[in-house]
Amino acid sequence: MNAGIIGIGRYVPEKVITNFDLEKRMDTSDEWIRTRTGIEERRIAADDVNTSHMALAAAEKAIADAKIEPADLDMILVATVTPDRPFPSVACMIQEQLGAKKAAAMDISAACAGFMYGLITAKQFIETNSYKHILVVGVEKLSRITDWEDRNTAVLFGDAAGAAVVGPVSEGKGILSFELGADGTGAKHLYQDEYIIMNGREVFKFAVRQMGESSLNVLRKAGLKKEDVDFLIPHQANIRIMEAARERLELPVEKMSKTVHKYGNTSAASIPLSLVEELEAGKIKDGDVIVMVGFGGGLTWGAIAMRWGR
Ligand code: COA
Repeated sequence: MNAGIIGIGRYVPEKVITNFDLEKRMDTSDEWIRTRTGIEERRIAADDVNTSHMALAAAEKAIADAKIEPADLDMILVATVTPDRPFPSVACMIQEQLGAKKAAAMDISAACAGFMYGLITAKQFIETNSYKHILVVGVEKLSRITDWEDRNTAVLFGDAAGAAVVGPVSEGKGILSFELGADGTGAKHLYQDEYIIMNGREVFKFAVRQMGESSLNVLRKAGLKKEDVDFLIPHQANIRIMEAARERLELPVEKMSKTVHKYGNTSAASIPLSLVEELEAGKIKDGDVIVMVGFGGGLTWGAIAMRWGR
């Protein structure tokens, strides 16, 4: 029994904050932000839109796309570091709102690698035949924990949600291999006190190394070569980090997802959000080999090689 993605959905808030808007609020410039990060604008959720609202909106789309009913869900996993409150989990909140009565529900805290942790957790239940349909959501309202006086971090982040229904798919399709990891000794480089605190240079070095290595590791585990990869979906933190991963895989520019310019770093939402956009743009086709790779605070990381399709 192979586990794969059988439905996807996303939600982005309407409000756009451009680099030029930020120039008016802090000592920064569009030029600095674009050349250092690739970010041009980001979405910010309204005060009355919480993490659970965004998660619900993305989840409803993924469930409809999978052509199942909420009542068919066996489990809900929500990857987030910005839950509405410490408990109940966002997963329990949307379980009620969806009417997913038989679904077990919990949140996963793995920062920007959270969606990878969620997919790989879901895979275990599907492949042991324990569950058939698992909703995995990556969602953040990072604007709530961003210090809008701190130019080192405020220019980087945005709010969004992405969701996937994971279920059994035909032989040869779905998740072919994975890698998960963590290094708590690096916790000091990226964490939340009241707001996000970050040592950008240290995170950058770690990310460049880890994104490339994890991508190559999942290929090796799946018995694939670099030239077998049709599309790369890296965590959208910074275009320079993403480019380093692409170069390690020796892929042309058009084979890498890039949404960071529109949304900034949306943490756990960034990979599923990009996946939805690339599918809508027709860049990923049935049977394509895709690599998804993410890293984040913890430090955490995760990667998947998969063959797209049901
Ligand atoms: N606007 C203008 N200047 C800024 C700025 C901003 N928004 N933010 C920082 N600077 C300044 C710094 O204060 C520093 O000034 P100094 O040299 O006088 O101290 C200067 O720009 C250069 O900083 P540096 O750290 O060398 O820049 P960088 O090339 O490493 O880029 C990051 C900074 C944050 C973009 C980069 O380190 C990065 O992307 N790191 C990873 C972050 C990340 O991905 N986090 C999320 C993980 S999920």
